[in-house]
Amino acid sequence: MRINNSNDRVHVLDAHANVWTVITDIADSGVQEEAFYVCDLGDIVRKHETWKAFLPRVQPYYAVKCNDSLAVLEVLAALGTGFDCASKGEINKILDLGVSPNRVIFANPAKPSSHIRHAAATGVSTMTFDNETELHKVKSLYPDAKMVIRIRCDATDAQCPLGMKFGCDPISDAPRLLRLARTLDIDVVGVSFHVGSGCREPLVFNRAIASAKDVFDYGITLGYNFELLDIGGGFPGDHGSSISEIARVINSALEDYFPDAAVQVIAEPGRFYVSSAYTLACSIHSFRDVISNDETTKHRMYYINDGVYGSFNCILYDHQHVVPQPLHELAGSKYYSSSIWGPTCDGLDQVVEDVLLPEMRIGDWIVFENMGAYTLPVASAFNGFPIAQVHVAAEENIWDLFKDILPLTEEHLIMGNVSPNLKMDLDISRDESSIIQHLPIRMQVPKSDSIVEEHVLEYVGYMQENN
Ligand SMILES: Cc1ncc(COP(=O)(O)O)c(C=O)c1O
Repeated sequence: MRINNSNDRVHVLDAHANVWTVITDIADSGVQEEAFYVCDLGDIVRKHETWKAFLPRVQPYYAVKCNDSLAVLEVLAALGTGFDCASKGEINKILDLGVSPNRVIFANPAKPSSHIRHAAATGVSTMTFDNETELHKVKSLYPDAKMVIRIRCDATDAQCPLGMKFGCDPISDAPRLLRLARTLDIDVVGVSFHVGSGCREPLVFNRAIASAKDVFDYGITLGYNFELLDIGGGFPGDHGSSISEIARVINSALEDYFPDAAVQVIAEPGRFYVSSAYTLACSIHSFRDVISNDETTKHRMYYINDGVYGSFNCILYDHQHVVPQPLHELAGSKYYSSSIWGPTCDGLDQVVEDVLLPEMRIGDWIVFENMGAYTLPVASAFNGFPIAQVHVAAEENIWDLFKDILPLTEEHLIMGNVSPNLKMDLDISRDESSIIQHLPIRMQVPKSDSIVEEHVLEYVGYMQENN
């Protein structure tokens, strides 16, 4: 979701509605052609509850890079998380929400000078480093900064390893860097690490926390008294995943190595908070059958309206494995070996290489869950194919939590389940007016004393307003 996307909207769900019914309503309306997301705010709220239950000592600083949609940031700001920002632009996004600079860590160990100056100007004082030049830059541009040394400790198995780019060796590099910081009279306040995004080796957190403790101890020999441990990201976030094992390892390592509650422990979870909150629906606009020479087998190639240059960039950059689910499956459908391709003219634009799918037609929809992490912020409109828009959904109780926080006014409301602006530029064969009447909508403008009567309210433009 782009901040100034005037088509962003919020669906308030009653007990009979959920993400799949919203997708079905929109897809079956006959007036939606482009791919679209549904983002479930309740899923983000439930993740936060899970975090607090499993990791009570660790304050989450959400990694903005993972998904910088305004709705996500607003909800997390309201829930009280901190934020991990990597740039001036991300810092601005967070401070514009009214979040205190104390709740931000500038967690990029190699920062352009102008971004360091910006951090100084805005009071974002906590920032990471892993090299000498960063210390010299900080000394001249922001001498009062509170620095956090990032050490390297890699999981043996991670979806996206990070150690080859960031993190100094805790034994051979960290002591030298800390001595230089001391000489430059720079305040170092703690240690951070990132074991790799999509960590598949929970035990690495024990090794990393033990290493961090050694660096804390070395700091004491130089007269430092570190107060911050930042355990980075790496937590899974798909439907059905769990952080219980990682949390068990972390909690036990914290007890062993950092029993003193005076040490503040933070983390920088990204995908944990947003992966399962976003579900993407794509429609089939073309297909092609490839018949074997002996005419005994058929492979079907489906072409859909989002691909690796759009949302599915996560396949290339985030090494994601995406799972297609037909929105509707006709009873008795024949299944074929199938591949799914994006809409651009590039041969690289393949979403799924080979999967058994029921026979589908042009106009049918395919749904992909777990599409909230490292998708939208990276997507491009290459070849003129638009980036999928986001419909934000929230159950009524969740919406009640946030309606006073999200900056919505009556002007941002539109009537109807499907916004008129979705109908532009479409090749629609059905009678639109009958479709709109058919949709299950009774609207009430949510003044503070109003009651939400039916399952959908829509808001358009609040992102634009807030930009
Ligand atoms: C510095 C930093 N912190 C946090 C994250 C978020 O990691 P994850 O999404 O695995 O939680 C990243 C991801 O690349 C990162 O580079």
